[in-house]
Formats: sequence, structure tokens, C-alpha cells
Amino acid sequence: MIECKDLWLTYPGAAQASVCGVSLSLAPGEFVTLLGPSGCGKTSTLRSVAGLEAPSSGSIRIGQSLVFDGGKGVQTPTHSRDISMVFQSYAIWPHMTVQQNVAFPLEVARTAREEIRTRVEDALRMVGLSAYATRSATQLSGGQQQRVAIARALVRRSSVMLLDEPLSNLDAKLREQMRLELRELIKTVGLTALYVTHDQEEALMLSDRIALMSSGRILEEGTPQELYLRPRTRFGATFLGAAEIFDVAGISGSDIDTPDGPLQLTVEAGGVAHVAIRPEAIVATQSGCAPGASGSPVANRWSGRLVSAIFSGRQQQLVVELHSGRRVNVLAPPTSAFRVGAPITLEFPAERLMPLAEGSS
Ligand SMILES: Nc1ncnc2c1ncn2[C@@H]1O[C@H](COP(=O)(O)OP(=O)(O)OP(=O)(O)O)[C@@H](O)[C@H]1O
Ligand SMILES: [Mg+2]
Repeated sequence: MIECKDLWLTYPGAAQASVCGVSLSLAPGEFVTLLGPSGCGKTSTLRSVAGLEAPSSGSIRIGQSLVFDGGKGVQTPTHSRDISMVFQSYAIWPHMTVQQNVAFPLEVARTAREEIRTRVEDALRMVGLSAYATRSATQLSGGQQQRVAIARALVRRSSVMLLDEPLSNLDAKLREQMRLELRELIKTVGLTALYVTHDQEEALMLSDRIALMSSGRILEEGTPQELYLRPRTRFGATFLGAAEIFDVAGISGSDIDTPDGPLQLTVEAGGVAHVAIRPEAIVATQSGCAPGASGSPVANRWSGRLVSAIFSGRQQQLVVELHSGRRVNVLAPPTSAFRVGAPITLEFPAERLMPLAEGSS
């Protein structure tokens, strides 16, 4: 439904390109998120798809139409692309009612009066604002204003919706609620969505697929589970959540030597530069005499000393000091009892170890 091929975008006067060879395809009805830190080129990529920026080269197809081609000089104007947009700043017009705000894109397109009425009613119903149609837009809460912005995008009945951090102006609680509502709405209508956020949790919860960006490039791409459980790069491992990362000192088959102890992967370890694990994947036990506590170290089962344990309701945050002196963060179930200062064994399940490739940023 959307296909970007080798997009490059350099802003006038800029020393470096902001989008560097981005290629991305979205199937019809797919929800794909561009995730990455501030300044990595998410908005620039989205605005290129919208036709609000002119890339230097590459091509963009939306549905059957070629809307941009650097080589052929094709650049379809925004209003002629089969898209709608929702931004962080809702850009609600304060002097208009809710109804008028939502009707605006159709008025501009000179849609017939009756058609406008039904479409606006439909859109307001979908976002749960039918009762607010005649209210002034300024008399709405932040969440309601964002719903108006979404209704104004829905009213176009385009196949593709582009969303740039649409929830980031809302407070934490409302943001969580709107997240699920938004996904449900987009799925119900059957829209293809390209969504931009720097919030990893939002990306994980909303997306069918995530494209992780860094310095203008897509570094990794996959389903939320693929990216969270099996990142390929150090950047991917740390951006999607907390990770303990161990350097590789030596490799033999699937056995890895690290300065902190031996690890064994489920796969051959050729080309692995680091091995990472999520704190919640590490199993901490403190009962009796732990294997590996004395004698030769055992792979994936290291011992150390419990430095601190903080109970936070849902879990316990442990800090464990290994024999190497390195401290490791572990998330343990809230029900286990731990003695601070006492020896502790950490188990690293092989299937939760995440091998990270050499040369990955
Ligand atoms: N209009 C512009 N003119 C010149 N440079 C720009 C312009 N817009 C963005 N840039 C630069 O391009 C790079 C990418 O910016 P972009 O807005 O795409 O990042 P982003 O990933 O959306 O970041 P954020 O999460 O902060 O919104 C940045 O270095 C930025 O300074
Ligand atoms: Mg941005």
C-alpha cells in the first residue's frame, strides 16, 4: 500500500542528509511504526510520504500511484495523495465547532453538503464525539481535541493514515487509553497506518511491524516480538528496553567467553560481538549452595552477591555484583524472598540470550 524505495532527503543548506536510503513497504491494512531517537529522521520520512518534503532521490508509491520519483521528476501534491494526517499539535481551529473542524477538509475539497453531513457524523461517531458536535472546539479536553483531529483525518476516507507522535501531548494515563483506542479504530476502518514515535512502549503496543531508525537509516525492522526478543544490533537491544550487554572475548561453536563468565547460545556464535539479555529474563535464586559458586564457572549460571533488592509491587529490582566486579540488573517476581548481602545465582536461559552482530551500532 505504501512503498518507499531508497529515499534520500537533504534539507537546503544542510551538511548531511536527514533521510539516508530509507526503503519501507506497508501491506494494505498494516500498522507500521517508525521508531527512533529525536532527530533520527522519522518526521522527515513521514513528511516525504505526505508530499510535504521533496526528497532528493528515490521513489514513493501509494496504492497504485507513483507519487514521487526523483529520477522521473514526479512529485504529486499532498492533496492529491490518498492520505490523511494526524500530528502532535492537533491544529484544531478554536473559532470553529467540533463539527466545523471535522468538516473542514471536505469543505476545502468542495464535497456536496449532504455527503459532508453523513461523513462528519460517521467520523464523530467513530471517535465517540457525536454528543459534542456543536461544541466550540476550545471547550474540549486534550484527549477530546485529539479525537477531533483523528475524526478530521478519518473524514477524508483515505486508504492511508500518517500519524506523527499524535499522543505525545496527552498525559500518561490518557495516552495509554488513547493508544489502544487508536489502534482499534484504525484496524476497524481497515486503514494502512504509518505511525511515528520515539516511545518504545507505544511502538511495541500499537504496531504490526516496527522500523527502528537511527541517523536517517532504518537499522532494524520486524514485529514487536522479533525486535524486542531478537534484536540484531546493540542499538536495537538498548532502544527497545533495558538490556545487560556482555562483550565477547572468545568464541568456540556456540560457547562464548566473556570477561564476566561463560555463556552458551542455542546457535553457532560466529560473528557475535556482544551478547545481551533483558533483566526480566534472568532468573535469580538464593537457596543453599549454588552450582558454579566454587570450582570452574558454569555456562549461563553465574554467581555473585546481592547488592540491593527494591520491591515495586509488580516486581523486584535486584542489583547483583558478579565475581568480575560488574553489576547486573535483574527483574525478579514480587513474591520471591531475597537476602541482601548474601550469595546469589543468576541463570541466563539460552533461548533468552540475544547475540548482537559484529560492527552493529
Ligand atoms: N526543515 C528543516 N530544515 C533543516 N533541517 C531539518 C528540518 N527539519 C528537520 N531537520 C533536521 O533533520 C534531521 C531529522 O529531523 P526529523 O524532524 O525528521 O527527526 P525526528 O526523528 O522526527 O525527531 P523528533 O523525534 O525530535 O521529532 C534533524 O537533524 C533535524 O535537525
Ligand atoms: Mg519528529
